[in-house]
Amino acid sequence: MRMRRKKHREERMEACSELLIPDILEYKDDLGAVFGDDKPLYIEIGCGKGKFITETAMNNPDVNFIAIEKISDVIVLALEKVKAAGLTNVKFVRGDANLLGEFETRSKCDRIYINFCDPWKKSGYAKRRLTHANFLEKYKGILKPGGEIHFKTDNQALFEFSLNSFSDYGLRLKNITLDLHNSGFEGNVMTEYETNFSSQGMPIYRCEAIYPAK
Ligand SMILES: C[S@@+](CC[C@H](N)C(=O)[O-])C[C@H]1O[C@@H](n2cnc3c(N)ncnc32)[C@H](O)[C@@H]1O
Repeated sequence: MRMRRKKHREERMEACSELLIPDILEYKDDLGAVFGDDKPLYIEIGCGKGKFITETAMNNPDVNFIAIEKISDVIVLALEKVKAAGLTNVKFVRGDANLLGEFETRSKCDRIYINFCDPWKKSGYAKRRLTHANFLEKYKGILKPGGEIHFKTDNQALFEFSLNSFSDYGLRLKNITLDLHNSGFEGNVMTEYETNFSSQGMPIYRCEAIYPAK
C-alpha cells in the first residue's frame, strides 16, 4: 500500500499510545497478559486503515483483538479509528508479521485474520505471501491447538495458492466460497480493500483453515 507520509504522524501516534504495544515480544510467553483477562484473542495481520478491526471489535466486545501493521502511515489511521470508537478491546503492533515466528510456545490466540494480503504475483516472491508454509509455521507458535486462520482475497491465483498451502501444511479447510457476497455467509465485515474491489463487481474469495487440535 503506497501512502503519502502523514502530517504530524508521530504526534498522532503518540496521541494513541495507549493502544500501541511497544514490544510484543515482552509477551512472548504469555500473550494473554496484553489484556490481563481470559477473553478469546483474535489477531489481524495487515490491518491497513483499520475498518475491519474497528467494526469487528465493536461487534464482539467479549473478544480481545491485536492488529499488526507494518506501515506507520497506515497504522496511524487505524489507531485513530479505534480511539474514536472508544474501544478497549483492541491493541496494535507496529511491525512485521514475521515477528510472530518468535512465539515458540503455543500461545493464547484463537484466530488469525488475513484480509487482502499482497499477492506477490511473481513466483520468486511466493515466500512473502502471508499464506506461505513458512508463515503457517510461524502462526503455529502463537495459535492455540485448533486455532483458525480466516482468509479473504480478491485474487484468484493467491486463493488457489493459499488453499494448496493450507492443505499441504495439514490444515483442515471449511466454509470455502468463491463468491463471498453471494454465498449467504452472515456477519461479514468488509475491509477497505474489499469495499473497493466489490464496488468494481469483483468476487471475493474466502475460507477458514483450522490447525490440528493437538
Ligand atoms: C493490500 S493491504 C490490505 C489492507 C486491509 N487488510 C484491507 O483489506 O483493506 C495489505 C496490508 O497489509 C500490510 N502488510 C503486508 N505485509 C505485512 C507484513 N508482513 N506484516 C504486517 N503488515 C503487512 C500492508 O502494509 C498493507 O497495509
